[in-house]
Amino acid sequence: MEKYFTLQNGVQMPRIGYGTYKCTDGSDERVVRMALEAGYRMLDTAAAYKNEEYVGRAIKESGIPREEIFLTSKVWKTELGYEKTKKSFEESLERLQTDYLDLFLLHWPKPSADSQDWAELDQGSWKALEEFYSQKKVRAIGVSNFLPHHLEPLLETANVRPMVNQLELHVGYMQEATVQYCKEKGIQVQAWSPLGRRRVLEEPVVLEMAQKYDMSPAQFLLKFLLQQDICVVPKASSMERMRQNLEVPDIRILEEDMYMLRCLPQIGWGGEHPDLSRMAVCDV
Ligand SMILES: NC(=O)c1ccc[n+]([C@@H]2O[C@H](COP(=O)([O-])OP(=O)(O)OC[C@H]3O[C@@H](n4cnc5c(N)ncnc54)[C@H](OP(=O)(O)O)[C@@H]3O)[C@@H](O)[C@H]2O)c1
Repeated sequence: MEKYFTLQNGVQMPRIGYGTYKCTDGSDERVVRMALEAGYRMLDTAAAYKNEEYVGRAIKESGIPREEIFLTSKVWKTELGYEKTKKSFEESLERLQTDYLDLFLLHWPKPSADSQDWAELDQGSWKALEEFYSQKKVRAIGVSNFLPHHLEPLLETANVRPMVNQLELHVGYMQEATVQYCKEKGIQVQAWSPLGRRRVLEEPVVLEMAQKYDMSPAQFLLKFLLQQDICVVPKASSMERMRQNLEVPDIRILEEDMYMLRCLPQIGWGGEHPDLSRMAVCDV
């Protein structure tokens, strides 16, 4: 299995990365260092995770050359708009102890569900991202949690098209319309919560199929996404799980099984939607 996907600008992005949201108890960098020792070379963080300092320290302490690590961060939704995004980016660089990022994303399209000026704010932020990109402070730029109707106004004024859209995607929540839209526009899709934050790990159909393909349920869930050319950033806390998620067997899932999984009714949604106030479900 290829280790990388090639983005529309030619940058190579690992297909499997390590998600750092809540990966530490907020007090040190040991878990991120363990992920690097396990072999991860893509780390997904964000200003909102409040762990960029630990991620930066883990990279430094690992001794791995910076250019061997694909580092992603994101600007939080309260910092949308040209000036605020510029400031947030510089602060992320400082906390991460680096002078460039591999990927920088707008974390959510709206500051709140009832925002009236979100489209202008996104356009302002995007202008800032385009500047970082042309100054080579970031190798690729993109968005997260953007549905087609959020991407449309952004594309109207963009000079550089988003290269990545990071979305909640897993068995039971596949956001087909958005994934299809991104594919048509050449935007690489990346899955957050690819294991549904454990909510879909024990679904009977997942257990049954994982056994059929001789994979762990987590590996099977990741393979289901990878086989659709979707990158994944699972989070795990032990070396054993980290390695398991990185070493997804190269066994092709039959088309009939893929189809069946894609047709499942919605299960395991995390309860976050860019146009709605946070649902009080499943916050684990
Ligand atoms: N862009 C966004 O808005 C957004 C939102 C949410 C998350 N994300 C990104 O996506 C990353 C991953 O998402 P997530 O952390 O929400 O959920 P996830 O990766 O789907 O699931 C993580 C959960 O699965 C467990 N797990 C991991 N590997 C396992 C295995 N092999 N077997 C059994 N259980 C396993 C973990 O347990 P242990 O930790 O106990 O091992 C943890 O409880 C985040 O860390 C973050 O980087 C982005």
